[in-house]
Amino acid sequence: MQIQIFQSREALHRAVADRFISAVKANPKMVLGLSTGSSPLDTYANLVRDHQQNGTDYSKIHTFNLDEYVGLKGSHPQSYRYFMNAHLFHHLNIPMPQTHVPAGVGDLEAECERYEKEIQECGGIDLQLLGLGTNGHIGFNEPGTSFDSRTHVVNLLEETIDANARFFSGKEEVPTKAVTMGIQTIMEARQIALLAYGSKKAAPIRDAVNGPITESMPASLLQNHADVTLYLDEEAAALL
Ligand code: GLP
Repeated sequence: MQIQIFQSREALHRAVADRFISAVKANPKMVLGLSTGSSPLDTYANLVRDHQQNGTDYSKIHTFNLDEYVGLKGSHPQSYRYFMNAHLFHHLNIPMPQTHVPAGVGDLEAECERYEKEIQECGGIDLQLLGLGTNGHIGFNEPGTSFDSRTHVVNLLEETIDANARFFSGKEEVPTKAVTMGIQTIMEARQIALLAYGSKKAAPIRDAVNGPITESMPASLLQNHADVTLYLDEEAAALL
């Protein structure tokens, strides 16, 4: 694991955005894995600013998002599809059919299979952006998820529902299930960039980096990945 620690969050987001911009410039047909939550917001703002100022071309890239809430259509303001459209896709020149987010409604088993197939048909994910749940989840793979899981439906744990309630008008509004890329799906990405900041991420970062590799800490499996970089601020790195 490579670890980069930044003194300011601005510098951290700029570094992650620069990594993505360089990757897209080097390979205009890049397949990007993307994430949601609050962590990548300013990274996306940097990508949008760069596109507006420098015209970085996204017309041939494909993107695959990690996850989506079950029961929310893409038009729902708290869905991850809506989030991605609002914060990134609508501001880049990427054709919408090349943006992939799992559907959270309809035949979910079929959707999970279709999503995996779609990733394979695009040649796999070149560079995956990840956040980290306070309980160590990646995507929505909660502690206990099998390391060989592929895209699947998960029951969200109480702590994840609590952590994400801030985006909804109340805890009871938070969906209790999600569709997520599996841990195996994530591990097959050629490169991974994990972004974490703030003191709430210090313990899961410590356990992911220095703890035993165990299904009770999903992010710990990243220790076995050949090309992972962690982008951290000093608070998230405090226990390393
Ligand atoms: C959600 C997402 C994860 C994300 C995590 C961290 O649970 N499904 O992909 O990494 O939140 O969120 P935040 O960045 O808001 O701390």
